Amino acid sequence: MASEIKKIAVFTSGGDSPGMNAAIRSVVRTCAYLGKECVGIYRGYQGMIEGDFKPMDARSVNNIINKGGTILKSARCEEFRTAEGRKKAHEQLLKEGIDAFVVIGGNGSFTGALNFNREYGFPVIGIPGTIDNDILGSSYTIGFDTAINTVVDAIDKIRDTASSHNRLFFIEVMGRDVGHIALNAGVGAGAEEILIPEQNLGLERLLESLKRSKASGKSSSIVIVAEGDKTGKNVFQLKEYVEEHLPIYDVRVSVLGHMQRGGNPTCFDRVLASRMGVKAVESLLEGKSNLMVGVRDTKLVLVPLEEAIKAHTEIDEELIRVSDIMTT
Ligand code: F6P
Repeated sequence: MASEIKKIAVFTSGGDSPGMNAAIRSVVRTCAYLGKECVGIYRGYQGMIEGDFKPMDARSVNNIINKGGTILKSARCEEFRTAEGRKKAHEQLLKEGIDAFVVIGGNGSFTGALNFNREYGFPVIGIPGTIDNDILGSSYTIGFDTAINTVVDAIDKIRDTASSHNRLFFIEVMGRDVGHIALNAGVGAGAEEILIPEQNLGLERLLESLKRSKASGKSSSIVIVAEGDKTGKNVFQLKEYVEEHLPIYDVRVSVLGHMQRGGNPTCFDRVLASRMGVKAVESLLEGKSNLMVGVRDTKLVLVPLEEAIKAHTEIDEELIRVSDIMTT
């Protein structure tokens, strides 16, 4: 079975993340190294359905390891969620003579790959690429490290102006289901409060904490709010709420948005992506399928895609405790 794989496709899918290019490069070069053909698919599953393919050799991925975004583009594809869409995609892959694919993406992308394999027995391997770090079975996803460094950098800058004006800032960061970016960047940047979806401590506690902060002599404050936080108020409403209940505070809001997804990947993300790409191709050639390449305790692991998509990773309770202590 394994020796039948001659041509492997690679594509990026869902929200892009820094380091995806390094992963593409690794898949392409591993194929070249092992004497296999490699094909890039543009715009994820959408490009697969439309047959938007391009042969890739080792030189086609020169000078991309340091670049953010994805040279293959990405898309969230509704059509691939349908059996009809997947049928079209299968026909395109057959026409191009592709024997297996590596998908770089998150939960939704892995679900698509799994459905596709179940219907057509097509060999698939996933590489976790998302800034959210929310994929079960891997301690890190490609892009997370870069994103938290981007966020820390932004918060450091906001702190400069916050402390010059004795202001309180609410800073919204990405993470619609999980608070990993908020918690890690929050601790790294010394935030006074961190509001995450996993832990709704209520608005009362926020006011109490801000009052304590003021009373203890802090002149400025930074509150990090994950996109998916469960207080029921967005950052602008939180600003109004605090201004109403604690008029001593001069409050401003900053939504970091999509800048968190861009930028040159950190060395950590480049190395992780390079390792995962090699493992993905080798695994396919060993006849493996329906697996995600993950990393645990610095070692690469193979996780059934079925497990990876079951739930989101849990928040680090120890880090929450550290954060609580640091805000004393
Ligand atoms: O999944 C990654 C992510 O960056 C989330 O944190 C965020 O909620 C979402 O993508 C934004 O997606 P879009 O770019 O489609 O608006």
